[in-house]
Amino acid sequence: MKYKNLGNTDIKTSLICLGTMTFGEQNSETEAHQQMDMALDYEINFFDTAELYAIPPKPETQGLTERYIGSWFKQHNNRDKIVLASKVAGPGAGWIDHIRNGPRLNREHMTTALDASLKRLQTDYIDLYQIHWPERSTNYFGKLGYEHDHSEQVIAIEETLSVLNDFVQDGKIRQIGISNETPWGVMQYLMLAEKHNWPRIVSIQNPYNLLNRSFEIGLSEMAIREQVGLLAYSPLGFGVLSGKYLNNQKPEGARLSLFPDYMRYSNENGIAATAAYAELAKDNNLTPTQLALAFINQQQFTTANIIGATTLEQLKENIETVDIVLDEDVLSEIELIHQKFTIPCP
Ligand SMILES: NC(=O)c1ccc[n+]([C@@H]2O[C@H](COP(=O)([O-])OP(=O)(O)OC[C@H]3O[C@@H](n4cnc5c(N)ncnc54)[C@H](OP(=O)(O)O)[C@@H]3O)[C@@H](O)[C@H]2O)c1
Repeated sequence: MKYKNLGNTDIKTSLICLGTMTFGEQNSETEAHQQMDMALDYEINFFDTAELYAIPPKPETQGLTERYIGSWFKQHNNRDKIVLASKVAGPGAGWIDHIRNGPRLNREHMTTALDASLKRLQTDYIDLYQIHWPERSTNYFGKLGYEHDHSEQVIAIEETLSVLNDFVQDGKIRQIGISNETPWGVMQYLMLAEKHNWPRIVSIQNPYNLLNRSFEIGLSEMAIREQVGLLAYSPLGFGVLSGKYLNNQKPEGARLSLFPDYMRYSNENGIAATAAYAELAKDNNLTPTQLALAFINQQQFTTANIIGATTLEQLKENIETVDIVLDEDVLSEIELIHQKFTIPCP
């Protein structure tokens, strides 16, 4: 395994981070435990979860993912082996009312959220506590352009950060991070931390994959200069970049066969780009998955690649990409495809 520093801290996290959002829906507790066992065998020390999970969000499965991680810690008595990341949900326009009747990023909601996560995870601290998405409406979750709403009333980032500061002071969390954020949001968190001597964000968890390289506009520079590295999520674009949905295939039990509403990475240009990357992979004796994940692993601004899997075979293939290095020729070919299909699936 390879390791990187988490932000400006001396915490070393594995370049491959285990994503867990299938635990509790597509994966049972036993399968979840097998995945965590395998990850540990490969010397992965970084797991990512959220109060929201399992995915898709439903009242009856909310919190199950954290519960399965908690039961694994209890069985193995190995909490100290893992840098554990979780998240507090931001507001949702009706789609997550089962969480506190609609979550907000204020003291009351965040305190309830954190205490419930700690309980489910059977731990008394979370290493990296992340804001899952912003309180304000901005361009994330598939939106490339920004539309400003002058009338919007939101909890200020200053209030959210002051609550995170108290959590750190109380020892309930160690580091803080953001997710689905924009360059403006990153700079707000950094400026407010400096102004009040509050904790500094150490990471930004955003989508990043061959079909969505929007992170490179504005955020990649910030990640490097400000030491707020990328935790890349959906590295295979929900599995699309494995190539298994090409030619209208609908593999049984796969995410997009089960949940056809998840269309973020399946528009016409996304499919055409996937076919081009799959061809490039084949020409270089790689699987499409290997090409897609290795590309993320070797970006300078990547702190960790948050892989997801529903089987141990997938997990093995994904983790082992840590040893693949794409050469200059392959990288140039990727750029040619990228020029033709630039961010087809934000
Ligand atoms: N912050 C956020 O808003 C946010 C959003 C999304 C994800 N995340 C985090 O990022 C993690 C990963 O996201 P993701 O699950 O969307 O990642 P992804 O890599 O885009 O998709 C993973 C899915 O692709 C399929 N797959 C994985 N490896 C494969 C392989 N080798 N061959 C064929 N199919 C394969 C599996 O689904 P099937 O077997 O069902 O096909 C797997 O569940 C999540 O667990 C979560 O921790 C965060």
